[in-house]
Amino acid sequence: VARDPVDAGFDALMGRLDHPMIIVTTAAGEVRSGCLVGFHSQCGIDPPRFALWLSKGNHTYRIGVLCDTFAVHVPTAADRALAELFGADSGDGIDKFARCSWTRGPDDVPLLDACPTRFVGRRVALLDAGPDHVCLILEPISADVPAADGPDEWLMFRDVLGLPAGHPPTDRQRPT
Ligand SMILES: Cc1cc2nc3c(=O)[nH]c(=O)nc-3n(C[C@H](O)[C@H](O)[C@H](O)COP(=O)(O)O)c2cc1C
Repeated sequence: VARDPVDAGFDALMGRLDHPMIIVTTAAGEVRSGCLVGFHSQCGIDPPRFALWLSKGNHTYRIGVLCDTFAVHVPTAADRALAELFGADSGDGIDKFARCSWTRGPDDVPLLDACPTRFVGRRVALLDAGPDHVCLILEPISADVPAADGPDEWLMFRDVLGLPAGHPPTDRQRPT
């Protein structure tokens, strides 16, 4: 089916905007989950708030709705392989956390050792306002900003634009 012309124009415009990617992780008990996220932004200053959107097809969404605490990592271009693990593979098929190095953080949320630039946030709202992504609003409870990483090094949207997502946005969990 051909893409609606307005939607195609919107796609082209969004494809020209660039921003850093993030890797979001969380844990419900001993079930850990995480994915590469391009839809995100600071959305409050005082008090500080951060919004990110999880695709309803993702393992991270299905675990994330059970979770209060999330880690938001800012990978650098050197973390490309980690971004592929979290963006092109799914927790539905593999244990991502058996394939990378991590440390338990607040509420057992997994902190990725390769990405020291990160914050941990508690969910204060969940908004389902669209067909394929759900918005989580986080309140930061800790933040790590090592001097070594800087904006010139972030892994950007344009760096991973062609990466095939582990779950296309049209995927949905089907009851068995
Ligand atoms: C460039 C790019 C941007 C992405 N943006 C998001 C996003 O904003 N939110 C989201 O939930 N998934 C996003 N994904 C998709 C997930 O990272 C991907 O489907 C992942 O494999 C899901 O893993 P999971 O099933 O273990 O949660 C993006 C993937 C790519 C390649």
